[in-house]
Amino acid sequence: MLILKPADIRPSEITSEANYLNRRQFIKAGAMAGGAALSAPASSAIVPAERGAKLDGIGASRFSTDEPANSFEDITTYNNYYEFGTGKGDPAKNAQGFRTRPWTIAVDGHAEKTGPIDFDDFVKPFDLEERIYRMRCVEAWSMVIPWVGISLADVVKHFRPTSKAKYVAFETLLDPVQMPGQRRRVLDWPYREGLTIAEATHPLSILAVGLYGEVLPNQNGAPVRLVVPWKYGFKGIKGIVRMSFVESMPRTSWNMAAPHEYGFYANVNPEVDHPRWSQARERRIGAGVFSSKQPTRMFNGYAEQVAHLYTGLDLRKHY
Ligand code: MTE
Repeated sequence: MLILKPADIRPSEITSEANYLNRRQFIKAGAMAGGAALSAPASSAIVPAERGAKLDGIGASRFSTDEPANSFEDITTYNNYYEFGTGKGDPAKNAQGFRTRPWTIAVDGHAEKTGPIDFDDFVKPFDLEERIYRMRCVEAWSMVIPWVGISLADVVKHFRPTSKAKYVAFETLLDPVQMPGQRRRVLDWPYREGLTIAEATHPLSILAVGLYGEVLPNQNGAPVRLVVPWKYGFKGIKGIVRMSFVESMPRTSWNMAAPHEYGFYANVNPEVDHPRWSQARERRIGAGVFSSKQPTRMFNGYAEQVAHLYTGLDLRKHY
């Protein structure tokens, strides 16, 4: 019997959302039919170096939204990645020659396992999963993105942080030769971000290595970037080369640049306006003539899963 695996369909061939949704229904149907061959991920993740290469052994996730995904085109041509320029179209143009191999991630701080680790070895112990998440940018636009990633909770546990580790800090590559945006001090480079340990070990947090079933395009943060769907997009640090287990709250790029506008937590919150604009509504990118604004939801619609992380915290003060 010929079984067409989702893995046999090259995602970049997919031009319409409708096709993609069919593929998703197929994955779901396979998973529901107990299709272990479809949904059981490979126990060791392999992420090819080649741009556009297909990722194999992707499991489906119960955390995916059913909302229609944005097109590959929307997701890969409307980007924020200041290392490659500040215009939305700059990263797609300027990141094409960016080298994502060899790629080393330094793991340091309060953990039992630390040291520099080659990216391909870094991802190996984990399962690849597709996570279709709503993403909300602080600039009041949103997209739905079919990420492929590994659970950040699994990654954190793997390195066995000690009780002193209260936060996880991340850093992007510093390489002004390859990253023309770093030749200007638009931000204090390298780009930095951080999460509390509770946020980093929440099942929704992932490190993305792909989208639409293939290797993450450079402009979206290849080879590995953070995705935390209940926070504004700027928390999703791209091109990660350092992961540190630290005791005190780490400094983060946007908070350092404009502390009154960007806090450490950066939870999507329609009730707390950005000092220069409202966060009550958002524009879904690619929605065409029907792109009227829609209401923004608390924690980007993930309140049921994450609100407990912030009990007792004044969300107006800790924005
Ligand atoms: N990571 C780095 N290293 N540099 C950046 O400029 N921009 C952030 C975030 N990660 C940024 C970054 C912002 S502001 C957003 S909205 C998201 O990346 C955008 O991710 P996307 O382009 O994949 O949609």
